[in-house]
Amino acid sequence: MCGIVGYIGKRDAAPLLLHGLKRLEYRGYDSAGIAVIGEERVKEKEEERAERDVSGEEGIRVVKRKGNVAALAEAIAGCDGGFLGATVGIGHTRWATHGDPSDRNAHPHLNEAGDIALIHNGIIENHAALRVELEKYGYSFVSDTDSEVLVHLIDHLWANIPFLDFESAVRQALSIVEGAYGICVISMREPDRLIVARKGSPLVIGVGEGEYFVASDAAPLVEYTRHVVYLADGDMAVVRRDGFKVKSIGNIERESMVTELDFEIEEIEKGGFEHFMLKEIFEQPSVMRDVMRGRVSVEHNALHLGGIQDHLDTLRGAKRMVILACGTSWHAGLIGKYLIEEFARICVEVDYASEFRYRNPIVGPGDVVIVISQSGETADTLAALRIAKERGATVMGICNVVGSTIARETHFGMYTHAGPEIGVASTKAFTAQVVALFMIAVQLRMGNPEMSGVETSVLLQELLAVPDKAEQILRLNDDILSIAESYWDAEHVLYLGRGYNFPVALEGALKLKEISYIHAEGYPAAEMKHGPIALIDEDVPVVFIAIRDHSYRKVLSNIEEVRSRKGRVIAIATEGDREIGRIAEHVIYIPEAAAALMPLLTVIPLQLLAYHIATLRGCNVDRPRNLAKSVTVE
Ligand code: F6R
Repeated sequence: MCGIVGYIGKRDAAPLLLHGLKRLEYRGYDSAGIAVIGEERVKEKEEERAERDVSGEEGIRVVKRKGNVAALAEAIAGCDGGFLGATVGIGHTRWATHGDPSDRNAHPHLNEAGDIALIHNGIIENHAALRVELEKYGYSFVSDTDSEVLVHLIDHLWANIPFLDFESAVRQALSIVEGAYGICVISMREPDRLIVARKGSPLVIGVGEGEYFVASDAAPLVEYTRHVVYLADGDMAVVRRDGFKVKSIGNIERESMVTELDFEIEEIEKGGFEHFMLKEIFEQPSVMRDVMRGRVSVEHNALHLGGIQDHLDTLRGAKRMVILACGTSWHAGLIGKYLIEEFARICVEVDYASEFRYRNPIVGPGDVVIVISQSGETADTLAALRIAKERGATVMGICNVVGSTIARETHFGMYTHAGPEIGVASTKAFTAQVVALFMIAVQLRMGNPEMSGVETSVLLQELLAVPDKAEQILRLNDDILSIAESYWDAEHVLYLGRGYNFPVALEGALKLKEISYIHAEGYPAAEMKHGPIALIDEDVPVVFIAIRDHSYRKVLSNIEEVRSRKGRVIAIATEGDREIGRIAEHVIYIPEAAAALMPLLTVIPLQLLAYHIATLRGCNVDRPRNLAKSVTVE
């Protein structure tokens, strides 16, 4: 949700910033822009200032464009040499919140003198009141954004409070604004530094030799340095060529720890696939193996879940569990409920983080709250986590991004090790979350004296067999493409499943709607006759997850009900099932597995189906309209 980059060093900043923005484009692609300060221009300005005894002359070079980073790159290529020799700069790729996607609303934003430039990810909630105040002081605004307020506020405070320097002007401004932000600011008046700060939106500093990078996440940094500092919420840093200093926004010294990045550059490239989404779908077998690596031992009939090992008594003793998440992670959470309730016999509720945080939720000591987030930065999930903690619950995290805010703020937790997920539509992160939840549920089961050890060992063996079965399903890619060719022009699609596969039906529908813009709904199959059946006719395809489990016969009856209303049925069925072929128009056969593991397999054909339908419709699956990865605003 908006991507931020900054650079200070000895190299030309503009190409580095553009490259970084490309890596962050999945966070937003409504507009993009960069601002740089060149040494030549600094010298020029210093001479001018000395002559005229003024500061704050125009001088930062800015280019910004509606559209994606490629449009910005084109605009920059068309400029004169003003971008060469600039070794300090900032860049932004926008997901619009306030103000439409346009050149005018693109970042960076400048003060009126053009000597301060700011990029912002987040929302300044009191922007309207501040705008009115600043207008009274004579400031005029050129954009409709909330962010522009901040650059004028910095300017105003710097000009009016005696003895302020750049850093303290930014600090003062941040003490006045309310809301969430990750910002990076540069100024011609102190051109040798980037000022960065975060509250609610992530920021990482990349540590090079004589050069430093700033970014919303580590993806743009890995090709330049492996050493990074994840800023904590409430941190502010001054970054210069010879080092950086981290303090709190309230000006208290903070410890900062340099950590090593744990992924390789290949992991954030397409590796021969047409889209990141397809690559990530195909990565799932190896991701599942990575999640299990070092954690599952069939030989010893044991699990070793490092992050939660010391907290098993707390988990097993929980009065109840509450799973909080958003979107696809929420779907994984629903499967988690089924797993934990079945294996550990602990009552689990699943709530949307955004609903939980604004109700007066009943949660407190004795409750275990599990927050699930791929990015570890989702604003609603983070806020819900904080409420649960404040009220005395134990909070455990399941996150993918190492060092993310949610991972750091939970009491303990588990990483999913799915690697960077770039496609905006989540795929491999989902299956990694489900594997993690399965392992947690089985681990909790192991403490239950009523459960037999033999069954546990069978479950672990079944789990280890899942990645090979997932590979087998991926080999059906071409068949799924041909099925997609029959349905790409549908306007509505229903997804139905029962038990463990009900959340998969929700996930299949979400995947289709977010990347193909076809209206899709997921339901528990039995709910169909309580309403959705009214939608069915020959134009509404229905995807049934109809694997052979205890509710198979019931699902077959639901299929018959759809067929008798001329509905077209695509079924995900168990290999060897001949019966279903007679009533469904298309069948995708998948290998058999324990019911509790089935979501890991049934979801794959649904991801591929959504992917192919979307590409056949000419949609940009990696960057669906209106969406962004990592939703750091409410
Ligand atoms: C859907 C999707 C979103 C995310 C949701 C939560 O494909 O990607 O629904 O699942 O925004 O994000 P995280 O898991 O990062 O908290």
